[in-house]
Parts: sequence; structure tokens; C-alpha cells
Amino acid sequence: MNETRKLKAVIFDLDGVITDTAEYHYQAWKATATELGIPFTREFNENLKGVSRMDSLKLLLSQAEKPVNYSDEELVQLADRKNKLYVELIETITPADLLPGITEFVADIRSTGLKTGIASASKNAIAVLTRLGVMDHFDVIVDVNKLKNSKPDPEIFLTAAAQLGVEPADCIGVEDAASGVDAIKGAGMFAVAIGNAAHFPHADIVLSSTAELNFRELAQTFEGK
Ligand code: BG6
Ligand code: MG
Repeated sequence: MNETRKLKAVIFDLDGVITDTAEYHYQAWKATATELGIPFTREFNENLKGVSRMDSLKLLLSQAEKPVNYSDEELVQLADRKNKLYVELIETITPADLLPGITEFVADIRSTGLKTGIASASKNAIAVLTRLGVMDHFDVIVDVNKLKNSKPDPEIFLTAAAQLGVEPADCIGVEDAASGVDAIKGAGMFAVAIGNAAHFPHADIVLSSTAELNFRELAQTFEGK
């Protein structure tokens, strides 16, 4: 066992980890791409996970067969249009949309006195967490508007740890995006990825679904590292 690290907090990504809003982001980008006549696959969508709204739009536009130059104003309008579609989709969210195992996992973490945080790149995070009815399950929700750098930069996870008053080395981060796993590792944390192992070469553990999150097992693996 490594005596220098002690599990003190678990910091979660939101979209695709707490609830399946990653699917809604996909649907809204797919509709935007279709409108613009740009091919857009689920495989390409993997590159957008964890990435900010404007950077996602730029990645999407990079797939256009004939490159078009949009002005900054047009880019903002396109990003707003995608967000409008997304906001319509999240209006239907209820507490029943928490992903499998999340309620129990978060409750187990908190029952041992450990802290929990949210490190989401989404400006809609508070709206989603409110609809899910879980705002009070997290000690800290990082305000993405105050950050300078996007994932894979570690800033968001380092900010969560600082706001929780814990060392990054004493944290587990949970993500469904490759950029997010890189942000967790860049912060010096233990990374749990949810999804297909082929997408996460840098994760410490990959689980195929949130239903596999088991606090006791994870804490043992963390402390044994
Ligand atoms: C991340 C999602 O959580 O938030 C990305 O994985 C999304 O797909 C990003 O682009 C920004 O979200 P929003 O809601 O501010 O457009
Ligand atoms: Mg995500």
C-alpha cells in the first residue's frame, strides 16, 4: 500500500457519467451537422465528449467536405442553435434518468465521510443536476465559466480538489471522455473511465457501465496502488 495517498474525494464528470446527457449532446450535434450537410458519426462524436461547445463546433465544421469560413458571429449563432436543441432535450430529464448505480455509489462515498465534486465542462450542468434532484449530493460543483482551460487541461479537476480542500493525489476522477481521463491524469488523480476500454489507454480502471461502480472495491484498488 502506498502510505502517502489516502482516498478523500471522488470527482465526477456529469454528461455520460451521472446521466446520459452525452446522448443528448450527440443528438443535438447530429441535427446541427445534418442541417449543415456535414457527415457526423457516433465514432467521430467520441472526439467531442468533454470538449467545450465552441471547440466541439469547430471540430464538427472540420468534417465539412467543402471547407466554409464562418465569421465569429456566425459561429456563435451555430453554437447557440445547437445549445437550443440540447436545452429542449434536457427539459425532459427527471431523477429517473440517473445512470444505473450512481445513487448508491455516491451515497456510499458520502456515508464514509468522503467528499464529492462535479467537474463538468457544461454550462448547463446546474440545470441538469437540478432536474436530476442531486444538487445536494455534491460538495462542490466547479463553475466552468471561471476556468481558463478546457479538458484535457487538468484545471477543472485541480479546481475541484482545491475547492474541496483535498490533495489531487487523494482523489478519484470518473469520466466517460478520453479528454476527461487525460485531465484527471494530468491533475495527478486516479482515473476511472466509463465506456469502451479501447477509448481509454490512460485510465487506471475502465468499467463498461456505471452499474459496475463499487465504492468498496474501488477504494481498495486506489489504496493498493
Ligand atoms: C461536456 C460534454 O460535459 O460539456 C460535451 O461532454 C459538451 O459534449 C460540453 O460539449 C459543453 O457543454 P454545454 O452544455 O456547455 O454546451
Ligand atoms: Mg462526459
